[in-house]
Amino acid sequence: MNAPSNSDAGKRAAAEAALGYVEEGSVVGVGTGSTVRFFIEGLARQRARIAGAVSSSEQSSALLRAAGIPVLDLNATGPIPLYVDGADECDPWKRLIKGGGAALTREKILAEAAERFVCIVDPTKLVDVLGRFPLPVEVIPMARSLVARQLVLLGGQPVWRDGTVTDNGNWILDVHNLRITAPLDLEREINQIPGVVTVGLFARRPADIVLVGATPLQEPPR
Ligand code: A5P
Repeated sequence: MNAPSNSDAGKRAAAEAALGYVEEGSVVGVGTGSTVRFFIEGLARQRARIAGAVSSSEQSSALLRAAGIPVLDLNATGPIPLYVDGADECDPWKRLIKGGGAALTREKILAEAAERFVCIVDPTKLVDVLGRFPLPVEVIPMARSLVARQLVLLGGQPVWRDGTVTDNGNWILDVHNLRITAPLDLEREINQIPGVVTVGLFARRPADIVLVGATPLQEPPR
């Protein structure tokens, strides 16, 4: 068995702190990834307190069911009070890159449906400017090379995540070498390319609260 890393300690601390935002009797939106695994472990201890969860991936749905937590359909629950998820990168204004686990589209849907989006990260995820982590873009398979060419025109180097099929049956392009100084504009621009399902930039709907370990991130003055 691998020894727990420092980043695991940060992930676990953030996940435990996020449990404090779960309201009695509520439906909880649950993201995807290694940080969220710790959150699901904690949620399992409190499963009697919640009505159930809506999940951003088949992977998290399986973990939730194994923990005895009912997995509900977002169409039936309507808006949810809380969504908890990790991120691949986070800037000082709580704008994120997500999709390292290929679940970006359902994650964006849950973030949109949530009154409060609590993002849980370890300190290695913090950056001044987004883009060090290759930006994931979910694409309809037949549009892969068309979208890739458009992404090159935007200054990126798209690489097909060969072998990965999303829960929605689509493919992922990871865009390298971007320095994302205007995330809102880039999110809008990439989302408009025909064949793009979602870009993993969360700027239009950033996190409301980012827990870095157990500590909430403070935004700098604008
Ligand atoms: C899943 O598609 C991603 O958006 C994850 O939320 C992100 O990759 C964070 O993952 P870790 O918690 O495993 O670092």
